[in-house]
Amino acid sequence: MASSPRLIVNLDIAGPTISRHVYGHFAEHLGRCIYGGFWVGEESEIPNTRGIRNDVVEALRELRIPNLRWPGGCFADEYHWPDGVGPREQRPRMVNSHWGDVVEDNSFGTHEFMDLCEMLGADAYVNGNVGSGTVREMSEWMEYLTRADDSPMAALRRANGQDEPWKVPFFGIGNEPWGCGGHMRADAYADLARQYSTYVRNHNGSEVYRIAAGANDEDVAWTKALMEALPDKGNSSRKSSPYQGISLHHYTMSGHWDAKGSATAFSKEEYWKTIKSAQHIETLLSMHSTMMDVYDPHKAVGLVLDEWGTWWDVEPGTHPGFLYQQNTVRDALVAAIHFDSFHRHADRLVMANIAQTVNVLQAMLLTDPESGALVKTPTFHVFAMNAGHQDAAVLHTHLDLDTPHELDGDRLPTFTASASTKDGQVLISVANLELEGESEVVLDLRGGRLEQVEALVLGGDSVAAFNVPEHPYAVAPRPLAVKERDDQLVLRLPAHSFATICGTLAG
Ligand code: AHR
Repeated sequence: MASSPRLIVNLDIAGPTISRHVYGHFAEHLGRCIYGGFWVGEESEIPNTRGIRNDVVEALRELRIPNLRWPGGCFADEYHWPDGVGPREQRPRMVNSHWGDVVEDNSFGTHEFMDLCEMLGADAYVNGNVGSGTVREMSEWMEYLTRADDSPMAALRRANGQDEPWKVPFFGIGNEPWGCGGHMRADAYADLARQYSTYVRNHNGSEVYRIAAGANDEDVAWTKALMEALPDKGNSSRKSSPYQGISLHHYTMSGHWDAKGSATAFSKEEYWKTIKSAQHIETLLSMHSTMMDVYDPHKAVGLVLDEWGTWWDVEPGTHPGFLYQQNTVRDALVAAIHFDSFHRHADRLVMANIAQTVNVLQAMLLTDPESGALVKTPTFHVFAMNAGHQDAAVLHTHLDLDTPHELDGDRLPTFTASASTKDGQVLISVANLELEGESEVVLDLRGGRLEQVEALVLGGDSVAAFNVPEHPYAVAPRPLAVKERDDQLVLRLPAHSFATICGTLAG
């Protein structure tokens, strides 16, 4: 029988603000993310503005993307930015050895990325090259991007057509240095992070937030090494610190790295293994935050989950190095689980970036390589429905749940939820992770009352449902009825569905 959870929301107990940047994105030179996804070039028949797809920008503006990380990922540590500026026809080519061993023509470079960020209204998160780059190269990139006067790099930028300096609020110091970014040991990288960060200068009075490349999954020793390497072991002010944030990566899969599982054809057992892998984010954020607390109880240094999402075996028939995968209701539920966890860790988690925005891994948008047609994925809709949590204060919630799902001795919660408030509005997110039956969910609102309540539900005929150009709304939000009963709100959530309930705080 389906369970009937009660969600207690304390409308009068607000915690820290959920940084809008936890709704951040990631676009790498990988497969069809940049080329074909964002960038089609000015000569394309696909409507574009200065080479960037209009439909992609229009769709993503709905999500109010707060920041976009680029150019990688693993690609960042073999990317040399000077190759991607100046007249396009003169730009040198390179081999993208990590992703498909294809030739990259550098037609999408710094100016095109900054143009894209402006179109999206997103902050730039530029990821520098430590693995195969130099300190000078990284330093000059920042000068090129953000310096106003007639310094050599500012002059070069102007010669390439951009007078005004751009704003780059976030800068990454390499990527996965324990793996594709150089196979380094933690202490060796920690020293490099200090050195490279030093030369990522603040120009024109700006204050860039430098992010040291952090751990994979449970590797708390890596986080410890980066905290130990900070002056005063992280207990100094944010300003004087060489880096202000430390990253973390966690991918969700039902299998393992050699057989991650199919995106669309999965058993019930694989579904629950996926849920378990997604729910593990709660443990990971706690583990790394606790380690950071040892050094930095005032939370001056931020945790940045700059890669997360599902990673499945590639769609049959597609290039194995391009990481193109379908996106089902299961992926949407994975996103819902992550966001609830992000909200609970709002005190330490300053940013998170889903991998990746278009055509790669857990994408928001998928484009057809032949027709160019675009669809919004189920995950897109979770981002849209949850957008109201950006910069809102997290509300204290408690989920009263009596029937967990048993998997290999683990008891997995079958619901996930969180709530926040901003400008007199309250947004509650709740997902039913059960695979069968409809559940009645009681919203036990305490310390206040909500008026003008409206709700949306996202689901599909099956948990494996997905959108294609012929059926773009197979998984799309629909209105959901919310009833009042004994001062409580009651809704009926179908199996494998995600809902948002919003309302105005009464007088
Ligand atoms: O997002 C795909 C890849 O996953 C990134 O390039 C890398 O950082 C990670 O291993």
